[in-house]
Amino acid sequence: MEDRRVVVETVDLLRQYKQYDEVVNAVNRVNLRVYEGEFVAIIGSSGSGKSTLLHLMAGLDKPSAGKVTIRGREITSMPNDELARFRGNHIGMVFQSHNLIPQFTALENILVPTLMCNKEDTSYEENLKKLVASLGLGDRLHHLPSELSGGQMQRVAIARALINLPLVVFADEPTGNLDRENADEVLDLLLQTKDLLGQTLIMVTHDMAIAERADRVFRMDNGQIISSKVNNREKTE
Ligand SMILES: Nc1ncnc2c1ncn2[C@@H]1O[C@H](COP(=O)(O)OP(=O)(O)OP(=O)(O)O)[C@@H](O)[C@H]1O
Ligand SMILES: [Mg+2]
Repeated sequence: MEDRRVVVETVDLLRQYKQYDEVVNAVNRVNLRVYEGEFVAIIGSSGSGKSTLLHLMAGLDKPSAGKVTIRGREITSMPNDELARFRGNHIGMVFQSHNLIPQFTALENILVPTLMCNKEDTSYEENLKKLVASLGLGDRLHHLPSELSGGQMQRVAIARALINLPLVVFADEPTGNLDRENADEVLDLLLQTKDLLGQTLIMVTHDMAIAERADRVFRMDNGQIISSKVNNREKTE
């Protein structure tokens, strides 16, 4: 366990929100380490700080104190333009409400991250073909999000998160709006890509069937990680 490479680390991570004269510690001094190739699920009640923690780790929000490092690079102190490039190259993000750009077609949405980093123009094309095939989006690429079903929109959002072959994928309730069948399919796709690329996957979920498939489950309460459980599963491969 100790030999494994740390991919995401937080040190005394704190995010405070000031509401009137009260201060809310949405994330309260969180210290965690996630290793290469791990699938970590984050669970906890509504308002416990799961999304705030995920956004901090993905570089979408800045902490009030503490730091986040990804593969040894401290992202919390990076200038914005460098962070945008780093995120484009190494981080994939899937939101609960897919956050697709309504005026862009499915294909244009998928390609957004390729515009944000210095990839060669065509380096994503092979991956695009694979993603489109495995996500079953072939005949939907030129449709607008409003012309897609919920499951299809979430698949587009996943293709967008994976287009640059990121090192780490952060997902905030990616299956929250889907029925059981679609939720399982979306999880299978994320796990297949993760295994293929040796990615690290950190997912907020309230779906215990999904949390059971994670390597470790962190439970949050009141801005803190109150327990970390290792799921011991026999690997069949
Ligand atoms: N922009 C904000 N301004 C003020 N308070 C906020 C803001 N965002 C979150 N909070 C507060 O921070 C705490 C944690 O919120 P967060 O969204 O991280 O919870 P969560 O665990 O993701 O909940 P849910 O399961 O409902 O998505 C809550 O008390 C919330 O009210
Ligand atoms: Mg949330």
